[in-house]
Amino acid sequence: MAKEFKNPFRPGAGHMPPYLAGRETEKHEFERLLEQDTILENLILTGLRGVGKTVLLETFKPMAIEGDWLWVGTDLSESSSVSEASLSIRLITDLSVVTSGVVLARKRLGATGFGAAPQPVQLTLDYPMLQAMWQQTPGLAADKLKAVLETAWAHLRGLNKRGVIFAYDEAQNLADHAQKDEYPLSLLLDVFQSIQRKGIPFMLLLTGLPTLFPRLVESRTFSERMFHVLFLDKLSRQDSHDAVTKPITLANSPVRFDEASLDSIYEITRGYPYFIQYVCREVFDVWSQQIEDEDSLHAIPVEEIMRKLDSDFFAGRWARATDRQRDLLLIVAQLENCNSEFTVQEVVSQSRSSDRPFSSSHVNQMFSALADAGLIYKNRWGKYSFAVPLLDQFIKRQAAAR
Ligand SMILES: Nc1ncnc2c1ncn2[C@@H]1O[C@H](COP(=O)(O)OP(=O)(O)O)[C@@H](O)[C@H]1O
Ligand SMILES: [Mg+2]
Repeated sequence: MAKEFKNPFRPGAGHMPPYLAGRETEKHEFERLLEQDTILENLILTGLRGVGKTVLLETFKPMAIEGDWLWVGTDLSESSSVSEASLSIRLITDLSVVTSGVVLARKRLGATGFGAAPQPVQLTLDYPMLQAMWQQTPGLAADKLKAVLETAWAHLRGLNKRGVIFAYDEAQNLADHAQKDEYPLSLLLDVFQSIQRKGIPFMLLLTGLPTLFPRLVESRTFSERMFHVLFLDKLSRQDSHDAVTKPITLANSPVRFDEASLDSIYEITRGYPYFIQYVCREVFDVWSQQIEDEDSLHAIPVEEIMRKLDSDFFAGRWARATDRQRDLLLIVAQLENCNSEFTVQEVVSQSRSSDRPFSSSHVNQMFSALADAGLIYKNRWGKYSFAVPLLDQFIKRQAAAR
C-alpha cells in the first residue's frame, strides 16, 4: 500500500491520535497549575472510558517538562495499591528515575584487588539509596515516605526545576482496605498534603474513571480542596470534525470526508473520541480500497460499522449482565435523563409500566452488581450514570433486535 494510503486513525487505549482535537480549556488549566510555586491545587482528569484521559495526560508531559518541571509516574495497577508499603515503593521507584542522577558524594575506595588502583565511587540518590532511607526511617508508613520525599527534594532543588509532577493513570485503582488495616490511599493524600504545606513543590496529577474523585473525598474530605477536577467529556461538533479532517490533511491523503460524511460520523460517534478513531479507521479502510470508484466515495457504511462497533466495543461488557439485569438496563435506557444521572426511584417508577416491575431494593441490589461489572457507576450524591459512552443506544439496538 502506498504511503499516502496509510490509515492515520488510532482506535485503542492510550494510542495518541493523529490529531488531538479540542481540550484547549484543559490545557490552559494545566498551564495555570504549572505556575504554582506553592502547590495549593493538584489535578484530576476524569471521565468515561475512551474519552481521552490517557492521551491528554501524555500531552501534558512535554508541556510540564517545557515548563521546567520534572515528571514521574506510571499506571497505577491494583497491586500497587494493595498496601501502604506497596504504594510507597511505587512512589519511590518512580521518583528514583529523576533522583538517580543526583550525586551525594564522591568517595575513593581502597584497592579492590591485586594491582588494581583505588576506584572513585559516586554515591547517588538512586533507588537502593531511597529505599534504604525509607526502610531505616522510624515511625509510621507516612513518616517514612515523607522523610524520603523531603530528602529527595532537598537534593533536587539544586537542579533549578520548579518541582516534580507525580502523574498516575488508572488512579481509580487506589483504595483503602479497612479489613486488612491498610490505607494506601489515605497515606498518599496525607503525605502530599503534608509536604505541600511545607512548601515542597510535588504535585499530584491523577487520571481515572469517574469513581476516582468520590473515592478520594470519601477517604479524606480535604481532597475536595486539594484537587482541581477536570471532567473530560465528548468533543464538540467542530472539534469532532477536526479530529476527522485534520489527520487527513496532515497526511496529505487522497481520502476526503465531505460535510455529509462528517455529519454521519458525528451521528454515530456523538463526539466520543474512541468512537471517532474507530469509525474513521473503518471508513478510511473501505474508502481507500474504493478510491478509483468515484461514486462510492462518499457513502459511509453506517449499518456495517455500527454492527462491528457493537461486537468490538459493547458486546464484551454486555455479556457481563444477566438477562434480568439487561431488562433493567433497558428500562434505564428509556429514561430521558439516562445520559446524565438517574436515581433508583426514577428507575422504579419507569419500570411500573413494564411487564415485570422492579422494587427499589431489587434495583439497588442489581445496580450494585452492574457497577461491579463496570456498566454503571454511582456518583458522590448516590445517583447513577452509565459507565460506558453511548450505552443507551446500544441497549436499544439490542432490544430492537430481540
Ligand atoms: N482529543 C482527541 N481527539 C481525537 N482523538 C482522541 C482524542 N482524545 C482521545 N482520542 C482517541 O480516543 C481513544 C481513547 O483515548 P484514551 O486516552 O485511551 O482514553 P481513556 O484513557 O479516557 O480511556 C484513542 O484511540 C485516542 O487516540
Ligand atoms: Mg486510559
